[in-house]
Amino acid sequence: MQTILVTGGAGFIGANFITYFLDSNKEYNIVNLDALTYAGSLNNLKEVENSERYIFVKGDICDKNLVEKLFDEYRFSAVIHFAAESHVDNSITNPEAFVSTNVLGTFTLLDVARNFWLESPNTFKNGFEKARFHHISTDEVYGTLDDTGLFTEKTPYAPNSPYSASKASSDFLVRSYFHTYGMNVVTTNCSNNYGPKQHDEKLIPTIIRNAILGNEIPIYGDGKNIRDWLYVLDHCKGIELVFKTGKSGETYNIGGNNERNNLYIANRICSILDKIHPKLTSYKEQITFVEDRAGHDFRYAIDASKITKELAWKASENFESGIEKTVQWYLKKYQ
Ligand SMILES: NC(=O)c1ccc[n+]([C@@H]2O[C@H](COP(=O)([O-])OP(=O)(O)OC[C@H]3O[C@@H](n4cnc5c(N)ncnc54)[C@H](O)[C@@H]3O)[C@@H](O)[C@H]2O)c1
Repeated sequence: MQTILVTGGAGFIGANFITYFLDSNKEYNIVNLDALTYAGSLNNLKEVENSERYIFVKGDICDKNLVEKLFDEYRFSAVIHFAAESHVDNSITNPEAFVSTNVLGTFTLLDVARNFWLESPNTFKNGFEKARFHHISTDEVYGTLDDTGLFTEKTPYAPNSPYSASKASSDFLVRSYFHTYGMNVVTTNCSNNYGPKQHDEKLIPTIIRNAILGNEIPIYGDGKNIRDWLYVLDHCKGIELVFKTGKSGETYNIGGNNERNNLYIANRICSILDKIHPKLTSYKEQITFVEDRAGHDFRYAIDASKITKELAWKASENFESGIEKTVQWYLKKYQ
């Protein structure tokens, strides 16, 4: 049995990951360290709360004493690090929290793991030769694209928001622990996720909730901003694959090749609701354009050929199939 430290597991992707991973990997225990900020909820972990292979610890990844205590107690063989401040809009109004959690928190985890796993640079302590640090990151570190082109693992970093800048900083810290100390690290940079358990503040839950409640459905600017959407379970499976088989020191882009603009997404969700939850008029009439986000990146799109070719990853859902499931899930939640 191995015990992994998962951080931020009460949030959207972390909770989906823990639920999936514990079920399909019976040889692992998971300790979930999460501060339960506004973005985290233990309701996201109902499926595993009684599992003997799951322990929840409420705490901050910046708290070095706590992280050291957990390493001493559970002797983690790996860290999978999801915890972050993750909402771009909040990073515009309160960037400090992003630097604290995303930069200093990642540093704290890396450094405690280094001291626990390594005698000295490139020399692992007995029993920790395979100990791995998997950092979960975003495609937003690459900046923005015009109408054409894709982000590859070689695209130079050019973050544009305090959120993406803090994630880029954390990616660089992870990279440096590989090059300087020989720590066994992997980083995955994923495109926009959607699916069950995402916080109300994010785009897709916001569209579905406002539609159902009869409110205006707010769309930034002209609605033409494009993101490359990936169903959360496909992301979780990509993380599992990289965690188990990815090459140390490498980064892997994960994306579903599903570019959609915000207006398309709003219209698609409204069409689904018109079909499965009809009312007298179409939900589309509630779509309203609002002032654009400051510094709004135009387009993100991922070239996922490296993880596809090297590790045989492939998304199971396309946007049309994934969004149907997602709308069904939120319809139950918001009704
Ligand atoms: N959501 C996406 O579309 C997306 C895409 C690519 C990458 N990512 C990355 O994936 C990771 C998870 O994203 P998410 O959407 O699940 O985020 P989320 O905001 O839903 O969840 C973040 C979790 O981290 C916890 N947390 C925050 N600060 C903490 C701290 N200081 N100590 C301990 N726990 C803390 C929160 O309580 C919450 O449970 C993040 O690193 C994010 O950058 C997200």
